[in-house]
Amino acid sequence: MSQRAPLAQELTRAARAIEALAAGRSLQVALDRVLTEADAAVPPASHAAIRDLAWRTCREFGLVRELARLLNARPPAAAPAALQWVALAQMVGRVRPDAVLVDETVQAARALPGGPALSGFLNATLRRFGRERELLLATARRAPEARWNHPAWWITRLREAWPQDWERILAAGNAPAPLTLRVNRRRTMVDDWLGRLDAAGLAGRRVGAQAVALDCAVPVHTLPGWSEGLLSVQDAGAQLAAPLLDPQDGERILDACAAPGGKSTHLLELADVELVALDSDAARLDQVRENLGRLGLKAHCLAGDAAQPAQWWDGRPFDRILVDAPCTASGILRRRPDARWLRRRGDPATLAQRQQTILQALWPTLRPGGTLLYVTCSVFPEEGEWVLAHFLDAQPDAFRESLWFDPASGAAGADDSDGRCGKPLATLLPVAETARDHDGFFFARLRKRS
Ligand SMILES: C[S@@+](CC[C@H](N)C(=O)[O-])C[C@H]1O[C@@H](n2cnc3c(N)ncnc32)[C@H](O)[C@@H]1O
Repeated sequence: MSQRAPLAQELTRAARAIEALAAGRSLQVALDRVLTEADAAVPPASHAAIRDLAWRTCREFGLVRELARLLNARPPAAAPAALQWVALAQMVGRVRPDAVLVDETVQAARALPGGPALSGFLNATLRRFGRERELLLATARRAPEARWNHPAWWITRLREAWPQDWERILAAGNAPAPLTLRVNRRRTMVDDWLGRLDAAGLAGRRVGAQAVALDCAVPVHTLPGWSEGLLSVQDAGAQLAAPLLDPQDGERILDACAAPGGKSTHLLELADVELVALDSDAARLDQVRENLGRLGLKAHCLAGDAAQPAQWWDGRPFDRILVDAPCTASGILRRRPDARWLRRRGDPATLAQRQQTILQALWPTLRPGGTLLYVTCSVFPEEGEWVLAHFLDAQPDAFRESLWFDPASGAAGADDSDGRCGKPLATLLPVAETARDHDGFFFARLRKRS
C-alpha cells in the first residue's frame, strides 16, 4: 500500500478538478484526468481522498460559491477560487479541525502562481469563516442557490413545474444514492440471492420486482454472484423501463440510445428477443458489449445516430423500440451531482428538440401495431409531456397508452396488461412514497395504429 500524499497536495488536485467543473467540464472526467496526469503522479492511496474532496465541493457548490462571494472583496482568479471552494466545503462539513485545514490550504496556495499573496488571502478569508461561521452560513443560505445547492434557474423551473413537490425533488437530488442492483432473473431468484447476500454478512432490501438496494455500498465485484452474471447496477426507477416495453419472445427490438446497456441487458433478461443496441457514441458502446459479455447475453451492437436511420437501418421493421433519450439528467442528480452545474437554462428546450427529432426519425422503423417506449431520466416537463404532445400532434397513427405504477410493490405496467393495481404513471418523481426509493424518470408508451 502506497503512502498518501500530504493533504495540501490532495487539496490542490481536488481544486484542479473543481476548476474544470466551474469551466463547464464533467467532474468525473476532470478527476480521471487529474489522477492520471503524468507530470506528478498522485499516490493511489490518495485517489479516494481527492475524489471525496472534489465531490463534496460539487455537492456544496451553490453554498461555497455564495460564501466566497460574502468573504472576498473581489473575485480571485480561477485556481485560488477553486481552492477556496474546496476548503470551504471541508469547513462547512467540519470534516477536520479548521486549523489543520487552513494550514494545508495555505500550503497548497504557495505552489500556485502568485503564491505568497494568495496564501495570505486564503489564510484571512478561511480564518474569518471559522470565526463567523454561523452568521455567514445563515446569510449565504438566504440565496436559494446556496440553500438548495442547485442553480437558481433550475430551482425556479422545478417550482413552476411541481409546486407541491419541488422541495422534495431538490432534497432528493442532494441525498446520497443507494447502491441498487438488478438481479438477473434468468440465473436466480431475488429471494435466493438475498440469502447469499445475508450469508456474506451484507444487508439489502427489495425495492422492485428484480431490484435490491444495499444498506451499505461495497465494491460490486465483491458481491456474491457478480462474476457469475447474477447482477447489474441499475436504479429501481430505471428498472421499470424494460417491463414497461414488455418484450415478447421472438420479437425484434431496437434499443435506440443503448449505452452503457442497463436497459438492453434487462430486456434480454426478460425475453428471448433479437436486440439491436444502437448508440451514437462508439466508445460507450464498448460498455454495452462488456455488460452483455459479463451477463452471457447477445445483441447486435451498432454505432449510429438514432435521428438518421438511413445510415444504419436494414429496413426490417422493429416490433418494439425503446428510446431512452439523451436528457438533462434532472431526475438522477443524486447519482450525477455535477449535472446541475453543467447545464444551462436553455438546455431543457434544446434537448427537447433533439428528443423530438429522434422520436420522429425512429417512428417509421416501427411496424404497424408495434410499441415504442419513450423514457428520459428528467423531471422537466419540456423533456417529457411537451415532447409527447408535439409528437402526437404530428403523428396521427400514434396513440398513447396509460401506464401505472404501484409504489407498494414497485411494479409498473400498461393498462392493457393484467392486474392494473397502481396509480397513473408518466413522470416518476424521485421522491419515494414508500421505502422503495428510486430516481426520477418520464415514461410514455406509444402504439402505432395497424
Ligand atoms: C440516457 S443514456 C442511455 C442509457 C441506457 N439506455 C441504459 O439504460 O444504460 C443516453 C444515451 O444516448 C446516446 N445518444 C445521444 N444522442 C444519440 C443519438 N442521436 N443517437 C443514438 N444515441 C444517442 C448517448 O451516447 C447515451 O449513451
